[in-house]
Amino acid sequence: MVLTKSEIQNLDKVRRLNIVNSITGIKPGNLVATKSIDGVTNVAIMSSVVHLSSNPALIGFITRPHGDYRRDTFNNIMETKCFTINHIHKNIIENAHFTSAKFEQAISEFDFCGLTEEYLENQNAPFVKESSIKMGLSYREHISIKSSNTTMIVGEIEQLVVPDDIIQPNGYVDLSTADSVGISGLNSYYDLKFLNSFPYARVENVPSKWDKNA
Ligand SMILES: Cc1cc2nc3c(=O)[nH]c(=O)nc-3n(C[C@H](O)[C@H](O)[C@H](O)COP(=O)(O)O)c2cc1C
Repeated sequence: MVLTKSEIQNLDKVRRLNIVNSITGIKPGNLVATKSIDGVTNVAIMSSVVHLSSNPALIGFITRPHGDYRRDTFNNIMETKCFTINHIHKNIIENAHFTSAKFEQAISEFDFCGLTEEYLENQNAPFVKESSIKMGLSYREHISIKSSNTTMIVGEIEQLVVPDDIIQPNGYVDLSTADSVGISGLNSYYDLKFLNSFPYARVENVPSKWDKNA
């Protein structure tokens, strides 16, 4: 199937949403957790988390348009300047999925989605106890993306929690042993299976077997 821009625009809304949301491939499955200034906790599934830099250790994620909807995650981060990012473990995919429901501001998704708040030193935002890999972050900046009416929130890692058996001596985090999941679109969850790893790609080390001039 080949779809042009105008054919994409003319698709049924749900079909278009599903195609465009899945077409980029597997996205990381994370729960972003916050607490309002009044002490109401919030946890929301986000598939747009992205690594921005290692030094300083910066992570970003995209929040959807504000417009008509209340955005508790965004508001809480603006108020408290902190948040946590927690990998979705395969045992909590259903719980994680339903955090996307529009609960009232005064209601915590932790209480209705079977997830447990956990607090670590020097971080006011809650972590998700059921997640094995988690990060505590402090807010650094937010950037408006005008063309999509979305906002990228940038945070700096203050705490990193990774079980010892998941992190290798060189720092590589084995996501398949961690049982972290990937997301396609807005409702499909995938297991992550390690396939292979390769050394840092230097031009002189590219295998000659693909050289079309040889
Ligand atoms: C699989 C999946 C991925 C999602 N990813 C994002 C995302 O990256 N950014 C976002 O703003 N909303 C995303 N959502 C929607 C939010 O989880 C949902 O709007 C949630 O209610 C936001 O909570 P809040 O209003 O408490 O911030 C996603 C929903 C699902 C089901």
